[in-house]
Amino acid sequence: MASAQQLIGLIKSHAEGDSDRFFDLAMQLSAAEEQKGHKRLAEQLRQWADAGQMPRAEARTPNLTPIAAPRGDLAQFLVASYPSERLNSVILPPLIGEELAHIVVETRMREKLEEKGLKPRRRILLSGPPGTGKTMSAHSLAGELQFPLFSVMLHGLITKFMGETAQKLKLVFDAIKTTRGVYLFDEIDALAAARGDGNDVGEARRVLNSFLQFLEEDTGPSIVVATTNLAEILDRAVLRRFDLVLSYELPDAASIREALERRLIGFSLSRLSWRKITDCAAGLSTADVVAAAEDAARRAVLGDRNSITTLDLVNSLGRRRSLQGLGRDANATKPESLSSKRSRKGIPVSNEDGRRRQEAE
Ligand SMILES: Nc1ncnc2c1ncn2[C@@H]1O[C@H](COP(=O)(O)OP(=O)(O)OP(=O)(O)O)[C@@H](O)[C@H]1O
Ligand SMILES: [Mg+2]
Repeated sequence: MASAQQLIGLIKSHAEGDSDRFFDLAMQLSAAEEQKGHKRLAEQLRQWADAGQMPRAEARTPNLTPIAAPRGDLAQFLVASYPSERLNSVILPPLIGEELAHIVVETRMREKLEEKGLKPRRRILLSGPPGTGKTMSAHSLAGELQFPLFSVMLHGLITKFMGETAQKLKLVFDAIKTTRGVYLFDEIDALAAARGDGNDVGEARRVLNSFLQFLEEDTGPSIVVATTNLAEILDRAVLRRFDLVLSYELPDAASIREALERRLIGFSLSRLSWRKITDCAAGLSTADVVAAAEDAARRAVLGDRNSITTLDLVNSLGRRRSLQGLGRDANATKPESLSSKRSRKGIPVSNEDGRRRQEAE
């Protein structure tokens, strides 16, 4: 049950028309109930909180509110959006998914933590290969929390404002302090990489140092998410400033299958040889797998078919592999399997192997 203090806060914020506070408290209650396993009650509270948020919901179209539209110089390198994705739309290893879900709970339960002198984690670094869901995760965090997402155009910031990048960065951190949201510094290696490329080493170092300093000083209500493909070039000084560093990886067989199934909802997928398909996707990112699914789907639709076969997916994944320079056949470099050796020598193979081979041919 909600504490008396929570109930008083809820009624007071409603009476005072403070819809932001009302929303936060209702979401806190919902998170608390969810943690206790009262999922239906939690969902109902979330719905009521949403319903009580009409002004904010209406404001979700960018440019309608002061919050949504960064002004002046800020408008040149801060872009606002209102993502609708949820965390469960990102396919992630359980550990990463759980950490992100906990960030949501910590943010919603901020006051409870603060009562005990604790703070929610708010500075998050996502590192890993391209196309593994880092940017999507930042969008989903914003969507889940119903916060606006502010994307910081780091590259433009550095090149456009050479010499005054640090001052501009200060503007961003001022916004982080005053306007609650998820602030996404995508591909933060732009800051670190610039140090070595001979452009203006002094400037890049100043920018990076300012970024670290601002990050350290920031105690506001926003969440800062930085992403990089190159965690190894970020030095310890950078990594130390984050409350949470999550390493994304290429999808395993289960995630590949999930990505394909989710993208191919509406098509008939019976009797697919998943082993063969996931083998073909080895080395591809989730983004590539999704693109291959879309490729197979387009071809099926144009061929007036509603079913997708193993061969469709093997071919689409193969094309994707070629485009990525991975070599079309994922198995080309693998040791020959027992069943294919057998069949080459004319030895009968098991039914399952025979069926899979037929599907692929
Ligand atoms: N883990 C995932 N779960 C579901 N879809 C994904 C995932 N990763 C990638 N995708 C798909 O690929 C698209 C691109 O992913 P995203 O931009 O998040 O990758 P990224 O890790 O940020 O890549 P980069 O390092 O190149 O910026 C997503 O919009 C989504 O369609
Ligand atoms: Mg990205």
